[in-house]
Amino acid sequence: MHGDCEKILFDEDEIHRRVREVADEVNAEYAGKRALCVGILKGSIIFFADFVRLLSFPVELDFMSVSSYGGGAVSSEKLKIKKDLDGDVTGRDVIIVEDIIDSGFTLANLKQMLIERGAASVKTVTLLDKKERRKYGITPDFNCFEVGDEFVVGYGLDFNERYRTLPYIGALKRSVYEK
Ligand code: PRP
Repeated sequence: MHGDCEKILFDEDEIHRRVREVADEVNAEYAGKRALCVGILKGSIIFFADFVRLLSFPVELDFMSVSSYGGGAVSSEKLKIKKDLDGDVTGRDVIIVEDIIDSGFTLANLKQMLIERGAASVKTVTLLDKKERRKYGITPDFNCFEVGDEFVVGYGLDFNERYRTLPYIGALKRSVYEK
């Protein structure tokens, strides 16, 4: 384990088992359809890469980068798009893939935005759900693990752009992020 982590929450095997289970749920729901999987940069990339390879129906891939500072107590009410989708979502069944839902600001706004752009359907898949921190009324359609209010890193998730490549999901030591 990395010395900056307090503990491992989910190890590699556990993650892969659970991602497969969730992919199977998604496969059952989308059997006979095709979908556009939208990865939200950057935290979702590792999960996204593993997840989309387990889907058994035809998918296309696209990416967005947004700023989530609006999820804070005050600050901006509008989601800022840093990189938009390359393609059009009109009439498409869209699956948004996120690493974590916290306040729910990002996913609630993204979902609304894609519906307004004319997507036929928008479902959300998350690796982690910090349920107790929710401020916006959204629940992911598919979620791998629930986590408490701790600083989680690894498997795509960062602290100041570090730890994204750890193969497991760990809780960061308080002394590291309170420095
Ligand atoms: C994280 C995560 C979501 C958002 C969730 O992104 O990937 O996009 O925060 O928070 P919310 O539910 O309160 O809106 P972050 O800003 O850390 O960017 P990153 O994915 O590039 O690390």
